[in-house]
Amino acid sequence: MLKIQGLCKVFNPNTVNENKIFDNFSIDINKGDFITIIGSNGAGKSTLLNLISGNINIDSGLIVLDGKDVSYKEEFKRAKYIGRVYQNPSFGVSPNMTILENLALADNKGKKYGLSFGINKKRIEYYKELLTKLDLGLENKLYNKVTLLSGGQRQALTLMMAVMSEPKLLLLDEHTAALDPKTSAKIMEITKNVVKEKEITTLMVTHNMKHALECGNILLMMHAGKVIVDVSGKEKKNLTTEKLMEMFGKANAIEELSDRSLLTSLA
Ligand SMILES: Nc1ncnc2c1ncn2[C@@H]1O[C@H](COP(=O)(O)OP(=O)(O)OP(=O)(O)O)[C@@H](O)[C@H]1O
Ligand SMILES: [Mg+2]
Repeated sequence: MLKIQGLCKVFNPNTVNENKIFDNFSIDINKGDFITIIGSNGAGKSTLLNLISGNINIDSGLIVLDGKDVSYKEEFKRAKYIGRVYQNPSFGVSPNMTILENLALADNKGKKYGLSFGINKKRIEYYKELLTKLDLGLENKLYNKVTLLSGGQRQALTLMMAVMSEPKLLLLDEHTAALDPKTSAKIMEITKNVVKEKEITTLMVTHNMKHALECGNILLMMHAGKVIVDVSGKEKKNLTTEKLMEMFGKANAIEELSDRSLLTSLA
Protein backbone atom coordinates (compact mmCIF):
# COMPACT_ATOMS: atom_id res chain seq x y z
CA MET A 1 0.00 0.00 0.00
CA LEU A 2 2.77 2.43 0.98
CA LYS A 3 6.32 1.53 0.13
CA ILE A 4 9.23 3.77 0.99
CA GLN A 5 12.62 2.70 -0.26
CA GLY A 6 16.06 4.18 0.31
CA LEU A 7 14.68 7.55 1.38
CA CYS A 8 17.30 10.25 1.99
CA LYS A 9 16.69 13.77 3.25
CA VAL A 10 19.17 16.39 4.37
CA PHE A 11 17.99 19.77 5.65
CA ASN A 12 20.20 22.80 4.90
CA PRO A 13 22.85 20.81 2.99
CA ASN A 14 26.40 22.21 2.83
CA THR A 15 25.75 24.72 5.60
CA VAL A 16 26.65 24.75 9.29
CA ASN A 17 23.04 23.77 9.96
CA GLU A 18 23.22 20.65 7.80
CA ASN A 19 20.94 17.99 9.28
CA LYS A 20 20.85 14.54 7.70
CA ILE A 21 17.48 13.34 8.92
CA PHE A 22 16.89 10.25 6.75
CA ASP A 23 19.69 8.14 5.36
CA ASN A 24 18.44 5.16 3.34
CA PHE A 25 15.17 4.85 5.23
CA SER A 26 12.79 2.10 4.10
CA ILE A 27 9.39 0.92 5.26
CA ASP A 28 6.62 -1.22 3.81
CA ILE A 29 3.05 -0.65 4.95
CA ASN A 30 0.20 -2.97 4.07
CA LYS A 31 -3.32 -1.93 3.12
CA GLY A 32 -5.46 -1.50 6.22
CA ASP A 33 -2.51 -1.20 8.62
CA PHE A 34 -3.03 1.27 11.45
CA ILE A 35 0.45 2.25 12.55
CA THR A 36 1.16 4.29 15.64
CA ILE A 37 4.50 6.12 15.71
CA ILE A 38 6.21 7.36 18.84
CA GLY A 39 9.69 8.80 19.32
CA SER A 40 11.71 11.58 20.85
CA ASN A 41 11.49 15.22 19.72
CA GLY A 42 13.35 15.65 16.46
CA ALA A 43 13.27 11.92 15.63
CA GLY A 44 11.85 12.73 12.19
CA LYS A 45 8.22 11.72 12.69
CA SER A 46 6.62 14.87 11.27
CA THR A 47 9.25 15.06 8.53
CA LEU A 48 8.35 11.52 7.50
CA LEU A 49 4.67 12.49 7.18
CA ASN A 50 5.68 15.67 5.30
CA LEU A 51 7.79 13.66 2.85
CA ILE A 52 4.94 11.21 2.30
CA SER A 53 2.40 14.01 1.69
CA GLY A 54 4.82 15.94 -0.53
CA ASN A 55 4.86 18.95 1.80
CA ILE A 56 8.64 18.52 1.80
CA ASN A 57 10.59 17.12 -1.17
CA ILE A 58 12.76 14.04 -0.85
CA ASP A 59 16.42 14.18 -1.91
CA SER A 60 16.44 10.62 -3.21
CA GLY A 61 14.59 7.35 -2.80
CA LEU A 62 11.20 6.03 -3.73
CA ILE A 63 7.71 6.58 -2.35
CA VAL A 64 5.07 4.32 -3.86
CA LEU A 65 1.48 4.89 -2.78
CA ASP A 66 -1.11 2.33 -3.85
CA GLY A 67 1.11 1.19 -6.71
CA LYS A 68 1.81 4.72 -7.95
CA ASP A 69 5.25 6.26 -7.77
CA VAL A 70 4.58 9.60 -6.06
CA SER A 71 8.20 10.31 -5.07
CA TYR A 72 8.33 13.60 -6.94
CA LYS A 73 4.62 14.36 -7.35
CA GLU A 74 3.42 17.75 -6.14
CA GLU A 75 1.61 17.90 -2.83
CA PHE A 76 -1.73 18.94 -4.34
CA LYS A 77 -1.67 15.91 -6.64
CA ARG A 78 -1.02 13.53 -3.73
CA ALA A 79 -3.70 15.26 -1.64
CA LYS A 80 -6.31 13.33 -3.59
CA TYR A 81 -5.11 10.11 -1.97
CA ILE A 82 -4.10 11.44 1.43
CA GLY A 83 -6.12 12.78 4.36
CA ARG A 84 -4.28 14.71 7.04
CA VAL A 85 -4.95 16.04 10.52
CA TYR A 86 -2.39 18.25 12.26
CA GLN A 87 -1.60 19.01 15.88
CA ASN A 88 -2.88 22.55 15.55
CA PRO A 89 -6.72 22.65 15.49
CA SER A 90 -6.52 25.76 13.27
CA PHE A 91 -4.97 23.75 10.44
CA GLY A 92 -7.09 21.65 8.15
CA VAL A 93 -10.19 23.83 8.43
CA SER A 94 -11.04 27.26 7.05
CA PRO A 95 -12.02 29.15 10.21
CA ASN A 96 -13.96 31.93 8.50
CA MET A 97 -16.19 29.53 6.66
CA THR A 98 -19.16 27.70 8.15
CA ILE A 99 -19.07 24.01 9.12
CA LEU A 100 -21.25 23.32 6.08
CA GLU A 101 -18.90 25.17 3.72
CA ASN A 102 -15.90 23.33 5.16
CA LEU A 103 -17.60 19.96 4.70
CA ALA A 104 -18.62 20.85 1.13
CA LEU A 105 -15.04 21.87 0.40
CA ALA A 106 -13.75 18.51 1.65
CA ASP A 107 -16.52 16.70 -0.20
CA ASN A 108 -15.46 18.32 -3.48
CA LYS A 109 -11.77 17.50 -3.00
CA GLY A 110 -10.40 15.51 -5.90
CA LYS A 111 -13.49 16.15 -8.02
CA LYS A 112 -13.28 17.94 -11.34
CA TYR A 113 -14.16 21.27 -9.81
CA GLY A 114 -12.33 20.54 -6.55
CA LEU A 115 -11.40 23.22 -4.03
CA SER A 116 -14.74 24.89 -4.39
CA PHE A 117 -17.46 24.90 -1.81
CA GLY A 118 -20.42 24.74 -4.09
CA ILE A 119 -22.91 23.18 -1.69
CA ASN A 120 -24.91 20.31 -3.01
CA LYS A 121 -28.18 20.55 -1.04
CA LYS A 122 -28.72 16.79 -1.38
CA ARG A 123 -25.54 16.20 0.63
CA ILE A 124 -26.65 18.24 3.65
CA GLU A 125 -28.53 15.32 5.23
CA TYR A 126 -25.42 13.16 4.75
CA TYR A 127 -23.23 15.79 6.45
CA LYS A 128 -25.68 15.93 9.35
CA GLU A 129 -25.54 12.14 9.67
CA LEU A 130 -21.73 12.24 9.75
CA LEU A 131 -21.70 14.95 12.42
CA THR A 132 -24.35 13.22 14.52
CA LYS A 133 -22.01 10.22 14.83
CA LEU A 134 -19.45 12.47 16.53
CA ASP A 135 -21.89 13.13 19.35
CA LEU A 136 -20.69 16.72 19.78
CA GLY A 137 -23.87 18.47 18.66
CA LEU A 138 -22.17 19.82 15.52
CA GLU A 139 -25.09 18.70 13.37
CA ASN A 140 -27.06 21.63 14.82
CA LYS A 141 -24.30 24.13 14.03
CA LEU A 142 -23.96 23.66 10.28
CA TYR A 143 -24.27 27.39 9.64
CA ASN A 144 -21.85 28.42 12.40
CA LYS A 145 -18.43 29.66 11.47
CA VAL A 146 -15.61 27.33 12.49
CA THR A 147 -13.98 30.14 14.53
CA LEU A 148 -16.74 29.57 17.08
CA LEU A 149 -15.78 25.92 17.65
CA SER A 150 -13.57 24.57 20.41
CA GLY A 151 -10.27 22.86 19.61
CA GLY A 152 -11.82 19.42 20.09
CA GLN A 153 -14.79 20.21 17.89
CA ARG A 154 -12.43 21.49 15.19
CA GLN A 155 -10.27 18.36 15.34
CA ALA A 156 -13.35 16.15 15.07
CA LEU A 157 -14.52 18.18 12.07
CA THR A 158 -11.06 18.08 10.47
CA LEU A 159 -10.98 14.33 10.92
CA MET A 160 -14.36 13.92 9.22
CA MET A 161 -13.19 16.21 6.41
CA ALA A 162 -9.93 14.28 6.05
CA VAL A 163 -11.70 10.95 5.52
CA MET A 164 -14.65 12.25 3.53
CA SER A 165 -13.15 11.65 0.11
CA GLU A 166 -12.13 8.10 1.16
CA PRO A 167 -8.36 8.66 1.06
CA LYS A 168 -5.98 5.75 0.56
CA LEU A 169 -3.91 6.99 3.46
CA LEU A 170 -4.62 8.95 6.63
CA LEU A 171 -1.79 10.88 8.28
CA LEU A 172 -2.35 12.03 11.86
CA ASP A 173 0.37 14.13 13.48
CA GLU A 174 -0.24 14.45 17.22
CA HIS A 175 -3.81 15.39 16.37
CA THR A 176 -4.97 15.26 20.00
CA ALA A 177 -1.91 16.91 21.58
CA ALA A 178 -3.51 20.35 21.91
CA LEU A 179 -6.66 19.01 23.58
CA ASP A 180 -7.57 18.46 27.22
CA PRO A 181 -7.45 14.79 28.35
CA LYS A 182 -11.22 14.21 28.13
CA THR A 183 -11.53 15.74 24.65
CA SER A 184 -8.35 13.98 23.56
CA ALA A 185 -9.87 10.62 24.60
CA LYS A 186 -13.06 11.46 22.70
CA ILE A 187 -11.15 12.36 19.50
CA MET A 188 -9.11 9.19 19.85
CA GLU A 189 -12.30 7.15 20.12
CA ILE A 190 -13.69 8.85 17.01
CA THR A 191 -10.37 8.19 15.24
CA LYS A 192 -10.48 4.47 16.06
CA ASN A 193 -14.10 4.19 14.88
CA VAL A 194 -13.51 6.08 11.64
CA VAL A 195 -10.36 4.13 10.74
CA LYS A 196 -12.10 0.83 11.49
CA GLU A 197 -15.28 1.71 9.62
CA LYS A 198 -13.53 3.01 6.52
CA GLU A 199 -10.57 0.57 6.76
CA ILE A 200 -8.16 3.38 5.95
CA THR A 201 -4.44 2.72 6.08
CA THR A 202 -3.30 5.09 8.83
CA LEU A 203 -0.09 6.51 10.27
CA MET A 204 -0.63 8.18 13.62
CA VAL A 205 2.16 10.07 15.38
CA THR A 206 1.64 10.51 19.11
CA HIS A 207 3.54 11.24 22.30
CA ASN A 208 0.83 9.51 24.28
CA MET A 209 2.10 5.98 25.03
CA LYS A 210 -1.38 4.82 26.03
CA HIS A 211 -2.86 5.90 22.70
CA ALA A 212 0.08 4.35 20.85
CA LEU A 213 -0.60 1.04 22.56
CA GLU A 214 -4.38 0.93 22.40
CA CYS A 215 -4.68 2.02 18.77
CA GLY A 216 -3.60 0.24 15.65
CA ASN A 217 -1.97 -3.09 14.83
CA ILE A 218 1.66 -1.94 14.57
CA LEU A 219 3.71 0.32 16.81
CA LEU A 220 6.93 1.94 15.64
CA MET A 221 9.40 3.85 17.75
CA MET A 222 11.56 6.26 15.79
CA HIS A 223 14.83 7.77 16.82
CA ALA A 224 17.24 9.92 14.82
CA GLY A 225 15.58 9.10 11.51
CA LYS A 226 15.42 5.36 12.11
CA VAL A 227 12.80 2.87 13.26
CA ILE A 228 14.33 1.37 16.40
CA VAL A 229 11.31 -0.62 17.63
CA ASP A 230 8.75 -2.34 15.43
CA VAL A 231 6.11 -4.38 17.26
CA SER A 232 2.86 -5.88 16.06
CA GLY A 233 0.31 -8.58 16.85
CA LYS A 234 0.65 -10.44 20.14
CA GLU A 235 3.88 -8.67 20.99
CA LYS A 236 2.13 -5.29 20.75
CA LYS A 237 -0.88 -6.53 22.72
CA ASN A 238 1.43 -7.67 25.54
CA LEU A 239 3.35 -4.40 25.66
CA THR A 240 2.68 -2.11 28.63
CA THR A 241 3.19 1.65 28.94
CA GLU A 242 5.90 0.94 31.56
CA LYS A 243 7.79 -1.33 29.19
CA LEU A 244 7.40 1.18 26.39
CA MET A 245 8.66 4.02 28.60
CA GLU A 246 11.66 1.88 29.47
CA MET A 247 12.42 1.26 25.78
CA PHE A 248 11.93 4.98 25.11
CA GLY A 249 14.30 5.90 27.96
CA LYS A 250 16.94 3.50 26.65
CA ALA A 251 16.81 5.04 23.17
CA ASN A 252 17.32 8.52 24.62
CA ALA A 253 20.07 7.32 26.95
CA ILE A 254 21.98 5.91 23.97
CA GLU A 255 21.66 9.28 22.27
CA GLU A 256 22.87 11.14 25.36
CA LEU A 257 25.78 8.75 25.68
CA SER A 258 26.85 9.27 22.09
CA ASP A 259 26.56 13.04 22.56
CA ARG A 260 28.72 12.82 25.68
CA SER A 261 31.32 10.65 23.99
CA LEU A 262 31.37 13.20 21.17
CA LEU A 263 31.98 15.96 23.71
CA THR A 264 34.72 13.90 25.37
CA SER A 265 36.39 13.27 22.05
CA LEU A 266 36.19 16.99 21.28
CA ALA A 267 37.66 17.97 24.66
N1 LIG B 1 11.58 22.38 7.14
C1 LIG B 1 12.65 22.11 7.88
N2 LIG B 1 13.84 22.75 7.66
C2 LIG B 1 14.92 22.45 8.40
N3 LIG B 1 14.97 21.52 9.36
C3 LIG B 1 13.83 20.86 9.61
C4 LIG B 1 12.61 21.10 8.89
N4 LIG B 1 11.65 20.27 9.37
C5 LIG B 1 12.23 19.57 10.35
N5 LIG B 1 13.53 19.87 10.49
C6 LIG B 1 14.49 19.25 11.41
O1 LIG B 1 14.41 17.84 11.23
C7 LIG B 1 14.49 17.16 12.48
C8 LIG B 1 13.28 16.29 12.67
O2 LIG B 1 12.16 17.13 12.90
P1 LIG B 1 10.67 16.57 13.00
O3 LIG B 1 9.79 17.76 13.11
O4 LIG B 1 10.43 15.61 11.93
O5 LIG B 1 10.72 15.80 14.42
P2 LIG B 1 9.56 15.06 15.19
O6 LIG B 1 9.98 13.65 15.36
O7 LIG B 1 8.26 15.32 14.53
O8 LIG B 1 9.63 15.80 16.60
P3 LIG B 1 8.47 16.29 17.60
O9 LIG B 1 8.15 15.11 18.45
O10 LIG B 1 9.11 17.38 18.37
O11 LIG B 1 7.31 16.77 16.80
C9 LIG B 1 14.64 18.25 13.55
O12 LIG B 1 16.01 18.36 13.85
C10 LIG B 1 14.12 19.49 12.87
O13 LIG B 1 14.73 20.64 13.36
MG1 LIG C 1 6.53 16.36 15.04
